[in-house]
Amino acid sequence: MAAATTIPAHRSVRARGPGRVNLIGEHTDYNGGLALPFAIDRGVTVTAAPLSGDRVEVVAFDLGETDDFALADPGRADGWRAFVRGTVAELTAAGIELAPARLVIEADVPRGSGLSSSAALEAALCLALLGVAGAREPDRVELAKLCSRVENDWVGAETGLLDQLASLLGEDGSALRIDFKTLDIETVPLELGGWQLVTADSGAAHSHAEGGYNERRAECRAAAEALGVEYLSDADPEAARRLGGPEGKRARHVLNENQRVEATVAALHVGDFGTVGRLLDASHASLRDDFEASVPEVEATVERLKRAGAAGARMMGGGFGGAVLALLPPGCARPDGVVPVAPGPAARRL
Ligand code: GLA
Repeated sequence: MAAATTIPAHRSVRARGPGRVNLIGEHTDYNGGLALPFAIDRGVTVTAAPLSGDRVEVVAFDLGETDDFALADPGRADGWRAFVRGTVAELTAAGIELAPARLVIEADVPRGSGLSSSAALEAALCLALLGVAGAREPDRVELAKLCSRVENDWVGAETGLLDQLASLLGEDGSALRIDFKTLDIETVPLELGGWQLVTADSGAAHSHAEGGYNERRAECRAAAEALGVEYLSDADPEAARRLGGPEGKRARHVLNENQRVEATVAALHVGDFGTVGRLLDASHASLRDDFEASVPEVEATVERLKRAGAAGARMMGGGFGGAVLALLPPGCARPDGVVPVAPGPAARRL
């Protein structure tokens, strides 16, 4: 990496982007539907120190890798470097004047685990780059859209806005009911009493930039077109039933999943966690059978958690691997290898 002089550290900043758990509402975001995610306390921290010159130096601490590029012309790269270069390019394209900096990235959310290390990284990068440049923070919904462009146009994953909104707008102690058609966001307090939400890694790593995610998205687009709607969530359930084929199944999942989000919000408001568990199970069955986004490792993990006494368990996130979310009733011992998760604060400067 080219040597550059670090300017005195008084303008160094640290920013934290949280990962997310999605309680329910999977593959609904890019279909104009509903979801119920929350930010978690694990995530990515980016430390930004000002540099003289005109470059950005980056250290991915956990990977032992580095990058180095011109601030004014980040250029393309693969893997984690695409996130950094894309974030710099998109902030600049949004009219924000960034400053040369040395960035150190540290994560305590595993990559490819389904807890959205990507959104955590994007959010932390944005806040650190804005902070070190002394730039004003844009509206957070706009920032979430910007992060999503990084993912779509620089990383090559056609993901929706779920993860970025959860990371940038999450609230300590609450989940967010997000309507992706209007971008209306409502906080739903998550007071679980003695119940516990946990995640377990299925052991099958996933990547949104490859495999089934982009394919499912294309199928949803085809289904919406066949049903004559802009958003699959607006489709007539009867017409979706008649559609048949993979497109019909994808549509059925999306329509039913939106209803499950509403039912989960209602059950949480009255503290009916048994019903929440059944809705998680129903979501999993739908993601497996209608959305066809499961893999054997995820099935084995769901079964293990159910055998251990979970009231509900489901694959979480984009699918084809990653994490499983489970709801454990009071008194249920946590099975080996699971991690308790609770709603934490949104992305922030530390
Ligand atoms: C991934 C994507 C999100 C969303 C989920 C599925 O996490 O990043 O945009 O589509 O999958 O609900």
